[in-house]
Amino acid sequence: MKQVLNVEIKNYNITITDDDFSKTMEELNLLTASQKRLFIVSNKVFKLYFDKLGLNKEEVLVLPDGEKNKNFKNYIKILETAAQKGLTREDAIIAIGGGVIGDIAGFAASTYMRGIDYIQIPTTLLSMVDSSVGGKTAIDMKNAKNIVGTFYQPKAVLININFLKTLNKRQFKSGLGEILKYAFIEENCNYKQPLYLFEYLTLCCEKLFSQEPMTIMRVIEYCLNLKIAVVNEDEKESGLRKILNFGHTLGHALEVRGKYRMFTHGEAIVQGMFFVLNWAKKVELISYSYHRLAIELLNKYGFKEQKFKISELIEIMKKDKKAISDKIVFLIPCDKKKVKEVKFRPEEILEMF
Ligand code: GLY
Repeated sequence: MKQVLNVEIKNYNITITDDDFSKTMEELNLLTASQKRLFIVSNKVFKLYFDKLGLNKEEVLVLPDGEKNKNFKNYIKILETAAQKGLTREDAIIAIGGGVIGDIAGFAASTYMRGIDYIQIPTTLLSMVDSSVGGKTAIDMKNAKNIVGTFYQPKAVLININFLKTLNKRQFKSGLGEILKYAFIEENCNYKQPLYLFEYLTLCCEKLFSQEPMTIMRVIEYCLNLKIAVVNEDEKESGLRKILNFGHTLGHALEVRGKYRMFTHGEAIVQGMFFVLNWAKKVELISYSYHRLAIELLNKYGFKEQKFKISELIEIMKKDKKAISDKIVFLIPCDKKKVKEVKFRPEEILEMF
């Protein structure tokens, strides 16, 4: 099976397939036929897939996984390797791994010689449904996630769902967290037709957990259709694209506070979703019945609400790049499958909770 989606703004394709890896590599070879290549590969993927992908060690730089490795040191390592291997403006960087690898490789590609091609081959569910598409590239600084980065679209995204067979359960569930996000923002996305993602996710939970290929492919396709519609309208996040940060304000703070070890990204942003759903119910932006359905959906996917001392997270949220002057920015549900941006001073948030 194969699906091809197109991102109009920079006219690049996203292929979603469950074909053999050899087909994905054939497609990559065609896309890069005349280019010198540098593959940035996560260490886990390198161990599991070096032979299956038929990689050439000469073209590969292996980097460790994990958010703490999305740093300046590894960014410079990529640039130095690209220079050593003599990559020019005509050449390409290929990221094979999860969001950390895709973000740092994309950032290096966007700055090396003022920008060369890069291709994303995401290997985690989270990177398949979100970070590999849309051109956000970044590295982190202490206590601030994605604080240095660019908007720089890839030349192509090649998604092969067979990578998910070796993804551990917790990371798979983390991807489900990001998928659930799209269910709450579908109405904002202005996609040309209703996808009924909220309803579909309510129905297909068991099939998704058992990794039924058709269901996985369809869910990735639905999420990306919504994301592409948003990115086509607002590539640089000056307006609409902010909705993709639903659940992320509190989520990022939890990730930072837990030093990226306590919560996966998906677990953290789902806690952020619980927080704003409860807030929206409290201030009567959403109905009790929608709130109940929303919480039931999150629970169905095995996510349970945890309680946090909001005061402990405020300082971190103030440093988030979504914060504007002295205000913290949240996306809060305001109707069924719809969210809106609200800005509050830290004291106002403390008064409310
Ligand atoms: N992950 C959110 C975005 O791409 O805008």
